[in-house]
Amino acid sequence: MEIRLQKVIAGTGLASRRKAEEWIAAGRVTVNGKVVTELGTKVDPDRAHIKVDGKHISSAQPFVYLLLNKPKNVMSTLNDPGGRPTVKDFLRGISVRVFPVGRLDFDSEGLMLLTNHGDLAQTLLHPRYHVPKTYLIKVKQVLTDDHIRQLEQGVQLDDGMTGPAIVKKVKKAKLNSWLEITIREGRQHQVKRMMEAVGHPVLKLTRIKMGPLVLGDLGPGEFRYLTDREANALRELAEQKLASAEDAEQQTPKPKKRISRVGWARSKKAKVV
Ligand code: URA
Repeated sequence: MEIRLQKVIAGTGLASRRKAEEWIAAGRVTVNGKVVTELGTKVDPDRAHIKVDGKHISSAQPFVYLLLNKPKNVMSTLNDPGGRPTVKDFLRGISVRVFPVGRLDFDSEGLMLLTNHGDLAQTLLHPRYHVPKTYLIKVKQVLTDDHIRQLEQGVQLDDGMTGPAIVKKVKKAKLNSWLEITIREGRQHQVKRMMEAVGHPVLKLTRIKMGPLVLGDLGPGEFRYLTDREANALRELAEQKLASAEDAEQQTPKPKKRISRVGWARSKKAKVV
């Protein structure tokens, strides 16, 4: 079956569809030895020899992206020296070596991305890129609007002020309340420490969003593959973050370490398991 060239390139995980279109328009892509710059070009991915910058895309290992709802009382790592259950125990039937993108506390639950796409994972995790993460939390007692304002503006923790957060009231119970909080940092136990700082300790915490990904109705312990649309949105997000970091670097006179483009530099981290 013939499909659009940019979709074939994006399907390998090397780039988002938009970035693949840029590569095609810039004359960096050849099909069967001929440069193709026409964006509507369709190819049969099983027959066409496609190269980007002279490299065969078919020789790239396909990237795998999984979304797991980590249950409570499970380590978010792949191994635990203490013998506690880990996220690996829930990935039945997955033979590809994937690793978790970020952490959740042992007693937290919710959205975890697992992938073998090392560069993308590093970009999403890097504190410099501020990928938003949203948590549904149950806290002790009911927050005042003043506390919500404090959380939104930043609170003082022992490792410094937090960045601005977005806080939404969800519902009140008899003694406690539920909130959604979105932060763009990833310090250890950050949400719990922020809520302690305003005097409302967390009783339950579930990550429900990370960048463009939404937990939805996946039950605890269940996982699914990302859809093409979700994987593409993640790649676009990572590309945007890298592009804005490169712009910022160009405006800074100091020489800094170059950041590799998503997809090309294959991280050794992809072989963790
Ligand atoms: N913040 C926390 O305090 N715990 C988590 O597991 C995630 C974010």
